[in-house]
Amino acid sequence: AMDSGVAKHPISDWEAYEQELKERIGIDQKLMTRIINQAKKDPKTVVFTEADNYKILKAAQIVKEQRIANPILLGNRETIEAIIAEHKMDLQGVKIMDTYQEDARREEYGQLLYEKRQRKGLTLFDAKRLMRDRNYFGSMMLNNGEADALISGLTRDYSKTILPALQVVGVEEGVNKVAGMYIILSQREPFFFADTTVNLNPTADELVDIIGLTARTVKFFDTEPRVAMLSYSNFGSVRGDVPNKAAEAVRKAKQRYPELLLDGEMQANTALNRNLLREHYPFSELAEKGANTLVFPDLASGNIAYKVLQEIGGAEVIGPVLMGMRKPVHILQLGSSIREIVNIVSIAVVDAQNYNNQHL
Ligand code: ACO
Repeated sequence: AMDSGVAKHPISDWEAYEQELKERIGIDQKLMTRIINQAKKDPKTVVFTEADNYKILKAAQIVKEQRIANPILLGNRETIEAIIAEHKMDLQGVKIMDTYQEDARREEYGQLLYEKRQRKGLTLFDAKRLMRDRNYFGSMMLNNGEADALISGLTRDYSKTILPALQVVGVEEGVNKVAGMYIILSQREPFFFADTTVNLNPTADELVDIIGLTARTVKFFDTEPRVAMLSYSNFGSVRGDVPNKAAEAVRKAKQRYPELLLDGEMQANTALNRNLLREHYPFSELAEKGANTLVFPDLASGNIAYKVLQEIGGAEVIGPVLMGMRKPVHILQLGSSIREIVNIVSIAVVDAQNYNNQHL
């Protein structure tokens, strides 16, 4: 619904792009459309920690206009206002917060951070200083319930952005390690890749956690997970650190999640090609349908795989979706497009709506 006085926006570009995708490669957008419609039913407050950036502001404008979310803009006030004016954006009524001007909140948040981390070497002085940093400040807003979700990461590298969130918001009860997932929209069906963003070299036990988190997240997207634990070997065909670790993870995960459709270790083409599975590995639990969820043995393989697909694969990738945080935090890939940001915000809103039930 276009409000009175709202100018026409690049939403039309976005629709054109969607149309082009459909025509060129027939990518099925149903999953994302469902999420966006669900978000609109109960929009949540989302804090953007990099609001002094054109793409973030544009995305904030789109989610506000489409009633997907209520943005809070965190950043240098002058810069934000200048960008809004320069591009004649309509962000009227949206709250702008500049951490340098929020003396009282910095004091309060600094004190809270100090209480959390005084036995991790943090002094009160440093805790208050850290609150100038928008990732710390925004994480504390989320912690205190002043926002329902946090979006960051467009302009700084992932590890620097995730650390404040890990320190302030932390992990969900019962979760050891958070992990990142990408959704791959292709002609065939949606695929889910993890861990593509966080854990450098997970142990077998950590892979078991990642399998569990990922399966839950796939269900969050109304899809039944069919999980393959990947390696460069098939069911023990080669020995080595990666195959051994992956096989051990499968053994343990089958015990921990007896209901889950899971198999491995296996190569990626085995996982994705039912005919190959049926012909050579008919004993596999995945032989009937193949996998839709790929768990990678380490960050190098997962991260490289999705980025290659994104650039030359004829697929649209959506993510990263951060799984296992105590509250919804999603860290964008450096340089994400406006469209990618809107997608992640929609996912974050649905994540926040489900906060007390099944979430990410
Ligand atoms: N899950 C939950 N908590 C974690 C995790 C995790 N996976 N990793 C670290 N932590 C916690 C630690 O427990 C610790 O908490 P504490 O300070 O309260 O005790 C805190 O985070 C810091 O831990 P460190 O060990 O000091 O941090 P580390 O050096 O392990 O850094 C980080 C953690 C930043 C996540 C690191 O593992 C990393 O850099 N990962 C790779 C990120 C990356 O570069 N990804 C690729 C690009 S992403 C993209 O392409 C979109």
